[in-house]
Amino acid sequence: MPSETILVVDDEKSILTALKGILEDEGYEAVLAGSGEEALSILNERPLDLVLLDIWLPGKDGVAVLREIKTLNPGLPVIMMSGHGTIETAVSSTKLGAYDFIEKPLSLEKTVLVIRHALEQNRLHHENEALRRRMEESVEILGSSPAILELKGQIARAAPSQGRVLITGENGTGKELIARSIHLLSPRRGGAFVEVNCAAIPEELIESELFGHERGAFTGAISRRQGKFELANGGTIFLDEVGDMSIKAQAKVLRVLEGHPFERIGGTQPIAVDTRVIAATNKDLGERIGSGQFREDLYYRLNVIPFCVPPLRERSGDIRLLAEHFLKLFTLQTGQKAKKFSDEALRRLSLHRWPGNIRELKNLVERLVIMVPGDVIGADDLMLPGGSAVIAEESRPGSYREARLAFEKVFLSKALGRNGWNVTQTARELQLERSHLHKKIKFFGLQPRQAVEGRES
Ligand SMILES: Nc1ncnc2c1ncn2[C@@H]1O[C@H](COP(=O)(O)OP(=O)(O)OP(=O)(O)O)[C@@H](O)[C@H]1O
Ligand SMILES: [Mg+2]
Repeated sequence: MPSETILVVDDEKSILTALKGILEDEGYEAVLAGSGEEALSILNERPLDLVLLDIWLPGKDGVAVLREIKTLNPGLPVIMMSGHGTIETAVSSTKLGAYDFIEKPLSLEKTVLVIRHALEQNRLHHENEALRRRMEESVEILGSSPAILELKGQIARAAPSQGRVLITGENGTGKELIARSIHLLSPRRGGAFVEVNCAAIPEELIESELFGHERGAFTGAISRRQGKFELANGGTIFLDEVGDMSIKAQAKVLRVLEGHPFERIGGTQPIAVDTRVIAATNKDLGERIGSGQFREDLYYRLNVIPFCVPPLRERSGDIRLLAEHFLKLFTLQTGQKAKKFSDEALRRLSLHRWPGNIRELKNLVERLVIMVPGDVIGADDLMLPGGSAVIAEESRPGSYREARLAFEKVFLSKALGRNGWNVTQTARELQLERSHLHKKIKFFGLQPRQAVEGRES
């Protein structure tokens, strides 16, 4: 391992030579400067690990040099050396970013100790930074539940192809993360991943957003603008919340997916792009097709490779892992010391229903990292934003009722399926009033296609 380099700045020759000897004995490399100006030019020329800086210097003084070092290289630790009469300055220099100060005459031991601490702290800081960056940039899909393993296998198989992907799942289940990993594992990873949130863009702007416009195409079009399809040429376009796209935009997108070139709004030149389409939605597209809000032909164009992301409560085995991952991520991000969950807290997290799925869990952990002062996050700390507690599903009040209703729903849809959805016949078999069965069908929102398992398919 190369030794660490320490720059010593002092106008007294004798101090420079003494320190050089001491530092080299300790295994460091010492670089010497007799003035602030010289120090700054060395700083610009070579990498350094630490600076020992005298406060009183002829010309530019130590504090001025410290300020410049902190703008040039804020991460470089600087230890101030103060003689008689400069103690106050030394103290205030720590506010300017000096790591610490030592007093002259220098104590050998103290000097070496302070240097060692500063370097150690700096190393830890760099390691944390690197780790934090890796965690933040990570698109790794965490989890070892059978559902997630299956999903990862699907991603690995689908990614190398050109096949369009339609990802469905509840809010916060990781749809976008999956779309990004498909892109990154595909041969298009060198191209752009362009996201379009179809729900967030006002209807009148979506066309220009997707296909671009020419200058003057409409009021406000002050210059030519490329659309997202064009920007995603050679890469992937991610149509997020595709279920919320207006019918008009759907018609346009369909044409592109059928392989037709498009024009920018107000343009005449046809543009053809090579873009892979990944779409996602938390809506039931089948239902939207039924109610005329989504084009069936577009649905079939998009849904070449379907991905269904299960809600977090159906893979509760992953909750512990995710919670601990987010805990580490946010403590690193906020520069706090490590925290852990108590066993009871982890148990409750694992048994909660998580209607907002992984995003909700992640937000909760972020808040806990900021708000819980101690090192251990206990079960009592687990409060959701509305002020309600995270509760283990098994002990949730009313869960018996829910269980009964769930059973009833499946039971009734099976019976209806068996009887070919003949209500009179089913009522007779179950010895129920026909009108009562009708009420139940309405209450549970049962439909023929749900008949087999009482689940939407
Ligand atoms: N398996 C996972 N491992 C690690 N992090 C995950 C996982 N799934 C989701 N996340 C994280 O949870 C958050 C929500 O995920 P994402 O945005 O992909 O969900 P979404 O389904 O697109 O949500 P929405 O429907 O709200 O847009 C993100 O910060 C994401 O990084
Ligand atoms: Mg999303």
